[in-house]
Amino acid sequence: PGELPALASSRGIELGVAVAVDPLRDDPAYRDLVADHYTSVTAENTMKWEHVQPERGRFDWSGPDTVVDFAVENGLDVRGHTLLWHNQQPAWLSEGSYDADGLRAIMREHMEALLGRYQGRVSSWDVINEPFVDDGPELRGNLWLDTLSEDYIAQALTMAHEVDPEAELYINEFNVEGPGPKADALYALASDLLERGVPLHGVGLQGHFVHGTVPDDLARNMARFSDLGLDVEISELDVRIPEPVTEAAVAEQGEEYRRVVEACLEVERCSGVTVWGVTDAHSWIPEWFPGHDAALPFDPSYRPKPALNGMAEAL
Ligand code: XIL
Repeated sequence: PGELPALASSRGIELGVAVAVDPLRDDPAYRDLVADHYTSVTAENTMKWEHVQPERGRFDWSGPDTVVDFAVENGLDVRGHTLLWHNQQPAWLSEGSYDADGLRAIMREHMEALLGRYQGRVSSWDVINEPFVDDGPELRGNLWLDTLSEDYIAQALTMAHEVDPEAELYINEFNVEGPGPKADALYALASDLLERGVPLHGVGLQGHFVHGTVPDDLARNMARFSDLGLDVEISELDVRIPEPVTEAAVAEQGEEYRRVVEACLEVERCSGVTVWGVTDAHSWIPEWFPGHDAALPFDPSYRPKPALNGMAEAL
């Protein structure tokens, strides 16, 4: 392994990366990049509901097993991603009509299967993903909210804790990395859940940034979650560069990655930073944000970029 995993461990944080199943199976160089530079993995897609339970009661473990087996073989931790989300749900779930008891039964079947299978090997779960609307403080309307009311969040966390009492349970969200109304809403939600004794252990701030707009008050915002007694992490870091991508922008991106890892190190209960993809050849950015590219620490030829060095410098 390279120096990054040892540095991250010595500073007490995880340095994680989102992995895709196909290259993990087929591409030894990809596997080496992961094992040599990171201490944990998140499945970029394969643990999402549509992949795990494509039909009610039929579970597909091929992808999740590939990720978890790889992690165990290489001594990496696994962050479980994700249980309740408005995206990447199978049609039977999103288009079905269920009453509250019916939906709770579905939730329990899914959690028992997924959390049960990986108990002891997946140490934390994003139980709730993106509960707020894109830019605002309101809760997002989704199947769960519409059927179970706002209490769906507490119910899901409580159920997940019953199924796997050892797992660290997270709420994961975007556009909440710096202070602002949406971050305040997440803070209020987390405080309320803790006051009610709901088993919430951490918050993930995704960290899908645009080059040049990484907030400078990341640490301050993260610290208030930490002060609540929660773990806090940057869970899906990437820094997308508007095209044309210049060498100068790639160099500045290195500083941005450094600042993000530094912010985590400043915060008492920051548990780690996870990068959202292994190389620019595997990133979701070109497809989802046309006109942007080059968001990750390795280039499409698997060569390290300044971002990798930036993270190492921070550590
Ligand atoms: C993205 C994946 O990277 C893509 O491959 C997929 O097509 C869509 O989902 N927030 C999340 C992640 O929580 O699960 C998303 O991952 C990116 C945004």
